[in-house]
Amino acid sequence: QGRPPRPRIAAAIRVVPDFPKPGIMFQDITTLLLDPEAFKTLSTCSLSVTLTWTSRWSQVRIEARGFIFGPPIALAIGAKFVPLRKPKKLPGEVISENYDLEYGSDCLQMHVGAVQPGERVLIVDDLVATGGTLRAAISLLERVGAEVVECACVIELPELKGRERLDGKPLYILVESH
Ligand code: PRP
Repeated sequence: QGRPPRPRIAAAIRVVPDFPKPGIMFQDITTLLLDPEAFKTLSTCSLSVTLTWTSRWSQVRIEARGFIFGPPIALAIGAKFVPLRKPKKLPGEVISENYDLEYGSDCLQMHVGAVQPGERVLIVDDLVATGGTLRAAISLLERVGAEVVECACVIELPELKGRERLDGKPLYILVESH
């Protein structure tokens, strides 16, 4: 309390060394969720940096932690929300994109028809590390003809240079971690 907003958000995020494997400094946002004031500050900050977002833009969010930060913004601007999910979660026909993570590899899926060709899309996640996840999301959306306008994350690990893998898309972040 009493801290400016971004340091307040950063202080509420716990860093767990060597999880899920040695050498990874895991950015644990569950501690931020335990602190309603910090979570509220995060939502307010997100809205203040995203004043240019409009309800004409669809919002695409990435499972699972990316889902947590979406509702306040989506409700505030009245935007459509499209979940990108891990395999075998979506019941309808899906389009898939495989990608490499900071630790391992994974796959994102989206329902066919959830985003139309020409739709302008904002991609939201909790964290950008290597940028592999956001890059996969961008690629998936461009394959269905969407225009990815911006990406937004709560936390960036700048030393991993994920920002450079986003094909020049603008990236908003609230907190840098090292
Ligand atoms: C984490 C995080 C991002 C991604 C960032 O997700 O939530 O989506 O890694 O890493 P990158 O920039 O190196 O791709 P994770 O795959 O661990 O899944 P979760 O959100 O379901 O926990």
